[in-house]
Amino acid sequence: MDAKTKLKQLREECVLGGGQDRIDAQHAKGKMTARERIDALLDKGTFRELDAFVTHRTHDFDMDKKKYLSDSVVTGWGQIEGRPVYVFSQDFTVFGGSLGEVHSEKICKVMDLAVKNGTPVVGLNDSGGARIQEGVVSLGAYADIFLRNTLASGVVPQVSAIMGPCAGGAVYSPALTDFIFMVKKTSHMFITGPDVVKAVTHEEVSMDHLGGANLHASKSGVAHMACEDEHDCIEAIRTLMTYLPSNNMEDPPYKDTGDDPNRREASLDTVIPDDSRKAYDMHDVVTKIVDNGDFFEVHPQYASNILCGFARLGGHVVGVVANQPLIFAGVLDIHASIKGARFVRFCDAFNIPLVTFEDVPGFMPGVDQEHGGIILHGAKLLYAYCEATVPKLTVITRKAYGGAYCVMSSKHIRGDFNVAWPTGEVAVMGPDGAVNIIFRRELDKAEDKAAKRAELIEAYKDKFANPFVAAARGYLDDVIQPSDTRPRLIEALKVCQNKRDTNPPRKHSTMPL
Ligand code: HXC
Repeated sequence: MDAKTKLKQLREECVLGGGQDRIDAQHAKGKMTARERIDALLDKGTFRELDAFVTHRTHDFDMDKKKYLSDSVVTGWGQIEGRPVYVFSQDFTVFGGSLGEVHSEKICKVMDLAVKNGTPVVGLNDSGGARIQEGVVSLGAYADIFLRNTLASGVVPQVSAIMGPCAGGAVYSPALTDFIFMVKKTSHMFITGPDVVKAVTHEEVSMDHLGGANLHASKSGVAHMACEDEHDCIEAIRTLMTYLPSNNMEDPPYKDTGDDPNRREASLDTVIPDDSRKAYDMHDVVTKIVDNGDFFEVHPQYASNILCGFARLGGHVVGVVANQPLIFAGVLDIHASIKGARFVRFCDAFNIPLVTFEDVPGFMPGVDQEHGGIILHGAKLLYAYCEATVPKLTVITRKAYGGAYCVMSSKHIRGDFNVAWPTGEVAVMGPDGAVNIIFRRELDKAEDKAAKRAELIEAYKDKFANPFVAAARGYLDDVIQPSDTRPRLIEALKVCQNKRDTNPPRKHSTMPL
């Protein structure tokens, strides 16, 4: 056979992976093959495969008689919206996508290239875990990837899609990446499956309840999104990539969105209810302000009392963090703090300016929260905002109480543009709590306690439940009409675009993990 014919034959063999029967079985489960996923992810015709002719080198268990071209992972590069990315896609049709020596070598190669060339990595995971026939070699092979995930962190964006099983130590490669997308029903992540759980803890639990997409996207926070199906998942990744720079030396990609930077949004002037205990939807506030209402939320189901996501203002990418008064009054609890901290640190690592919309009654009180370490976890969000050197713009829409005032990108922790709406309330705590503490004696002595309390609350509100005390100190740069928020933020972003700020030189920080 001449070389040209041989090449053609080998290419055809590659595409078949573990064979047509296994491809059919994959389709029957509602799953795409590794190559179909790559085709869906990348711009048409841009995929360039690497190491297609690689096969494993194992002899034990008659493995030398079972070899498949490309082994159990397809790797290479291509483009998303015209920008290069490296990609690996585990092939479940070959040894269940299990990871051995050469599978790892292929992934490590694209990761090394990605870091060297300043290009994101997208990993599509669908694997039975460590290749059992390769023993400890496959464990070392995982560790080789974990090291690269860690070294690439903050250098190039790393995105993981979980599109099948992901169990045992295998979960730690995605867990070390920046974003995890899961697919409902067909993807699972856990350290040990239901059988081991039953043997060790006597708990009976389904795969979905232990490590399904909904569970991880809403309860554990391991996943950033639970997608309806694989197409949804891939579309979400493509959208995410449009907001990210290729590496930490680049700015995120500017795009002319066509939305007028001077657009004023009159409806914002009436969005805050007269009664400050009433909720409103911060999501609406964000979408009315950002370009064309496009807000790509991450972790939408997890800790929904804080919103985190990407948007554009005047065509420039921003990371939005916003308290959500609709959920637990927008309070900062353990999960919200962790979610916010991760997002702030990602944005800071990748030169994405932060825009914070603040309406927060404080940190969540309670035994569960204290015992769960709200002090430690709340400190993460504080730390993340303090260390961030990207432009930081803050709009206080209503409450900015207590420690949460300091945390949420305040002037004191290097906020660049801090404003409030006239409805802003910047205070140590809300009027009811404050009056109970500082006027306890007066209240005890008063004949008509309710009338006295109402009178003291009014006096407190006049004094503190407004933005003007903070503005008088320069803690706020201005008090603005809500309808002017979009143009004012876009102006502020522009004036900060050459911002230079640094942290002291050190090996690394000791942030409260
Ligand atoms: C080698 C494997 C494999 C593995 C699956 N296969 N897992 N081969 N090593 N880890 C092979 C099967 O032999 C089978 O081959 C094919 O993949 C498909 O597997 P099925 O069991 O038929 O598929 P399905 O019923 O869909 O079940 C998928 C599965 C199950 C849930 C993933 O295969 C499974 O439980 N596998 C073992 C999972 C596991 O315990 N892995 C180790 C985790 S610990 P044929 O030839 O029949 O098609 C770990 C440690 C990492 O990963 C540590 C890092 C530090």
